[in-house]
Amino acid sequence: MSDIAKLQIGDNQYEFPLITGTENEVAIDIKTLRGATGGVTTIDPGYKNTGSCQSAITFLNGEEGILRYRGYSIEELAEKADFLEVAYALIFGELPTKEQLEKFHSDIKDKSIVDDDIKKIIDAFPKNAHPMGVLSSLTSALTAFNPSSVNVDSEEDMYNSVVKILGKFPVLVAWTMRKKQGLPLNYGSKSLGYVENVLKMMFEQPNEEYVQNEVLVNALDKLLILHADHEQNCSTSTVRIVGSSHAGLFASLSAGISALWGPLHGGANQAVLEMLEAIKEDGGDTKKYMAKAKDKNDPFRLMGFGHRVYKNFDPRAKIIKVAADEVLKELGVNDPILDIAKGLEQEALNDDYFVKRKLYPNVDFYSGIIYRAMGIPVEMFTVMFALGRLPGWIAQWREMRLGKEPIGRPRQVYTGENFRPFKDISNR
Ligand code: ACO
Repeated sequence: MSDIAKLQIGDNQYEFPLITGTENEVAIDIKTLRGATGGVTTIDPGYKNTGSCQSAITFLNGEEGILRYRGYSIEELAEKADFLEVAYALIFGELPTKEQLEKFHSDIKDKSIVDDDIKKIIDAFPKNAHPMGVLSSLTSALTAFNPSSVNVDSEEDMYNSVVKILGKFPVLVAWTMRKKQGLPLNYGSKSLGYVENVLKMMFEQPNEEYVQNEVLVNALDKLLILHADHEQNCSTSTVRIVGSSHAGLFASLSAGISALWGPLHGGANQAVLEMLEAIKEDGGDTKKYMAKAKDKNDPFRLMGFGHRVYKNFDPRAKIIKVAADEVLKELGVNDPILDIAKGLEQEALNDDYFVKRKLYPNVDFYSGIIYRAMGIPVEMFTVMFALGRLPGWIAQWREMRLGKEPIGRPRQVYTGENFRPFKDISNR
């Protein structure tokens, strides 16, 4: 294949180089388009065909259902690695040695204390505030308590910011949930693993010792790994674009959390459970809801189905489905919601509308079922997603800053009024 793309506009022909990635993905490099053509731009709503950057972090092939972090398959990572190892690999490029991992974990624990004044901010939120709004605000507030901005040219500074946020974020996550439940805001224990500590901080009651359950620890570890990165999705692109203005790491992450909140993105796991509950309340008639999902005059969508990139199957959904079965068996949960979920899944997989549009269950169809069985409130589901996605956001922010990427600033095609003279208010 030639390594040049040719573009004809009227009588003029322009040439643009092709860029080929390490997995042979080809892109047309249009950096010189506006200059060469005298201002012609491209339009691509939703960026369905636009690469915003070159990235060495995550490879995703939606047609074949492939997801790899730093070259390692998601299946192998979910089976053999733990969340902190995956976080380290995502952020720094290589799996850590034993010594590196121990130091990483120990540094994270050392930085996990959150300024006690953060509790005053939490107190100021109404109890019914959505935890994603609270988490986004608290993450942004960390900037005020840690004002010195990261010197991105210093590896040490960069590392310190990374361990700081990985240490403090789970505390904010746990406190967000505990505040809603009226429980004292606690700390975990330095002697525990990262994921065990998250569970202890979230679930420990003030009057009894928290006992770990290995099945739950493993399931949460897997869930966090599966959510840890997903290349240039909505929230990650948000983190990169906010960070491209050289806003700090915590501010960029806070923006990413807001982006993740939406029901078309991370908020889907909450939306799935709410949908399943609504179907149950309405008598459990899955066929009725299948018909609604297919009706173009009805805004209802089958939440947890479809994906912008995966058009075959979501490899994360396959792994998490097995974990969901394990957790439900361990906890002895017999959940009617699960029967509705399985019914919908079967119907959709055999329905022409869904098959033709390549709409398969995505990771969020199953994650909510596990979170619910673990006793995590529905409104916290997207917060758990954010906890998993944190290393991916950090890795992408770090790559963007180290790569000295220019500020993100897309173009538009203006379709408004042409020039018109100002009309005095008495003449309007
Ligand atoms: N239920 C019913 N129909 C659907 C669904 C769905 N869940 N998803 C897509 N469709 C239909 C659309 O109506 C459209 O039909 P048409 O071609 O007849 O007009 C077609 O499938 C293509 O849909 P688009 O919205 O163009 O697909 P896009 O790639 O833009 O959207 C998205 C992907 C947003 C995930 C979509 O499938 C959706 O809304 N799903 C439900 C929400 C969800 O589960 N989001 C989680 C995504 S995973 C994550 O963020 C971790």
